[in-house]
Amino acid sequence: MLRSLFFLPVVLLLAPLRAALPPSSSYNYDEAKVGSIPLPAVLTARDGTVIRTAAQWTELRRPELLELFTREMFGRNLVGRPPGLRWTVTSVDRTALGGKAVRKEITLAFADGSDAPRLRVLVYLPVAVEGGPRRFPAFVGLNYFGNQSIHSDPGITVSDVWMRDNAAFKVVNGRATEGTRGVHADRWAVEQVVARGYATATAYYGELCEDRPEGLSRGLAAWAGTGGTEGRAPDAWGAIGIWAWGLSRIMDYLETDPDIDPARVAVHGHSRLGKAALWAGAQDPRFALVISNNSGAGGAALATRQFGENVERLNLAFPHWFSRTYRGYNGAEEKLPFDSHSLLALMAPRDVYVASAIEDTWADPRGEFLATLHAGPVFALWGKKGLGRVTLPPVDHPVLGDGLSYHLRTGKHDITPYDWAQFMDRADVLFKVARRP
Ligand code: GCU
Repeated sequence: MLRSLFFLPVVLLLAPLRAALPPSSSYNYDEAKVGSIPLPAVLTARDGTVIRTAAQWTELRRPELLELFTREMFGRNLVGRPPGLRWTVTSVDRTALGGKAVRKEITLAFADGSDAPRLRVLVYLPVAVEGGPRRFPAFVGLNYFGNQSIHSDPGITVSDVWMRDNAAFKVVNGRATEGTRGVHADRWAVEQVVARGYATATAYYGELCEDRPEGLSRGLAAWAGTGGTEGRAPDAWGAIGIWAWGLSRIMDYLETDPDIDPARVAVHGHSRLGKAALWAGAQDPRFALVISNNSGAGGAALATRQFGENVERLNLAFPHWFSRTYRGYNGAEEKLPFDSHSLLALMAPRDVYVASAIEDTWADPRGEFLATLHAGPVFALWGKKGLGRVTLPPVDHPVLGDGLSYHLRTGKHDITPYDWAQFMDRADVLFKVARRP
């Protein structure tokens, strides 16, 4: 009794720090109530110039939008490509997956010294055959539960850094256990990807930045001098900026891998990592195809529509994801100088694929479609036809367009073999990959 009385004031003191989040069910899911905030004009520069040519876009509007997204939403990268970046291939198995693939593990070190931040990259490649391709197109994306989560292959090194506990996935005491092998195999479809002639490269996102507010005071963020989630400069990067930056560092490595064709690399991500993939693709023109899967608010979904998750909820629930400046748009989406259609447009004339799921209403599938549609006029500056339709397609009817592609899948928030099959159908055309018999 005495003991519980003693603890009571402590509990009361801590309680206000844990701000209650409004439940997702309290947000709007009614098309009649999405509001009428006009979509910021993508083809009008801040000085009023109407962009009519690809050159004007590239010289004036694109740099201006990139700076706006940097300053107002994702934050500035606190480091560029580190001069000390180097990598070591730590394992190669040319008979992985029963002889169907080559598996490589590579450690990227961002600086000298054994305590320098590092990133362990896992790559699977098709086995090269006599007379066949020697350099493969690749998909690159981060994973949520460590490299060993993408396949049950016992040869993958198990992650040994912090991970949020997850009983179902056998993450215990903040670390992955052997039981985490292959827990996300469905989400990666490694065999399917390799069988279709693609390499797949991945790394654990928590190795770049732990997905919690403390993440901005630790690891790479601490090394970069980020200053913590609340102590950051208002326009300093957040976790999404760091994850996106990490994707570009993997690309730095892939450019040197003799088995990869660096001109045919697609960056992809699901959900929060879809937001990171979009931001990586926007900044780094080396990604020839940018894939957003169910990225929702802060990703492909339009913020000016009030549907599902909004800016305020994002910033409340995940204060470490975006720059602090983005909080200035909480409940004030009408002040945004851009929306997600402009983010997608930053890839032009490279290819973008946006995928939604019908039950993923939190991520606003229609808002994701509309952003893709309204990025179209920018792709048209290069004569690209974009989606080629103006209405949301029926479920499971992918629209593989010219520059812009979209599908709405049956089911919930997830990335599935169906999604992968569509991404590869688009990539086959773009990257001229012949379907294998
Ligand atoms: C939450 C969050 C989304 C995010 C998702 C995810 O639902 O609100 O913005 O995309 O998590 O990453 O799974």
